Amino acid sequence: MTSSENKAAQTLAALGVTEASSVSVLFAEILARFDGEIAGVQDEASWKQLRDAWLGRKSGVLTLVTDNWLKPATPELKRVVGAELNKLRGHVEAQIEAKRAAIEAGSDEAALARERVDLSLPGVTRPVGSHHLIRQVFQEIEDIFVSIGFSVVEGPEIETPYYNFEALNIPEFHPVRDDMDTFYIEVPKGAPSPLLLRTHTSPMQIRTMEKRQPPVRVIVPGKVYRRDNPDATHSFAFHQVEGLAVDTDITFCDFTGTIEYFVNQFFGPGVKTRFRPSYFPFTEPSVEFDVTCVFCGGSGVSASGGTCSKCKGAGWIELFGAGMVDPAVYGFVGYDPKKVSGFAFGIGIDRLAMLKYGIDDIQVFFQSDVRFLRQFP
Ligand code: DAH
Repeated sequence: MTSSENKAAQTLAALGVTEASSVSVLFAEILARFDGEIAGVQDEASWKQLRDAWLGRKSGVLTLVTDNWLKPATPELKRVVGAELNKLRGHVEAQIEAKRAAIEAGSDEAALARERVDLSLPGVTRPVGSHHLIRQVFQEIEDIFVSIGFSVVEGPEIETPYYNFEALNIPEFHPVRDDMDTFYIEVPKGAPSPLLLRTHTSPMQIRTMEKRQPPVRVIVPGKVYRRDNPDATHSFAFHQVEGLAVDTDITFCDFTGTIEYFVNQFFGPGVKTRFRPSYFPFTEPSVEFDVTCVFCGGSGVSASGGTCSKCKGAGWIELFGAGMVDPAVYGFVGYDPKKVSGFAFGIGIDRLAMLKYGIDDIQVFFQSDVRFLRQFP
């Protein structure tokens, strides 16, 4: 039996077909072959093969049928061959398109199955961060001072020499400036003032008093900068909390009472405080506040019996500078020094945190090493 495939390669005359009924039989045969072939197509590659075999322009079955059966057909058969061919073409094209859609849907399903989210897999855990120890200490200090009527203000880290020095009674060439060398910012020619990174939070004393009339009770947490070489106790950037209280009747007793209250709240009731005379251009008198050593309890002797290495046997640790606001400072902000009085203090936060939490290198505050940070969740 000649296969229908071969038959498409021969003319009707060669096949001995002269009647319309035989034409229909031929087409039925060829259609059955197509249906058989397409039934076996399951994937894209075999689908393409089938499409080319049937619809290929040069030697696809439909082209062969057109060239060999239709074109050379006798005038009597031409109409029926044309009609049968159209039917066949419609069927083949529709089936091939339907198959394409079916395969595509199937592969979509396969892709979906491949990409399906497996809800039983363990999730990706993102570590939860925490406040930096310095931030936590700021918060502790703010809470203590807010509880006794202070409010919290913040100010610029980039300052003018006027606020950082002059208005704090530190004229140019004052020797105190040597301890406060800092970073200057390039400003355009003709700028109204040089700019620098503030060396302390004290400029906010001036900015606050310029804006507010007494009574003033503020603390100022913030970052400060100095041209210091880094070592275990120095960094080019560190942190301070400034304090300022000005009113018509503030005495030295209010000052020491406030500081003692703070120190006891912060370090616990076990510590003792003392102050020693000191010097700052913007306070008069000026003091240095000390606290009994939190490591040896003020004895100067370490747990192992030797000299306490933290206070070097003194039993006291220097905490921060403070004093009664120098009347000269009031002159810069338009307060009447005859009517007002007040006190100020500047606490080094890094140092305080190191003392309270037993940290012996300031650099760890700036290294963002999670092994350190995790110890203070
Ligand atoms: N501003 C000083 C410094 O950074 C610290 C200081 C001392 C602040 C005495 C004060 C003060 O307000 O009264 O070294």
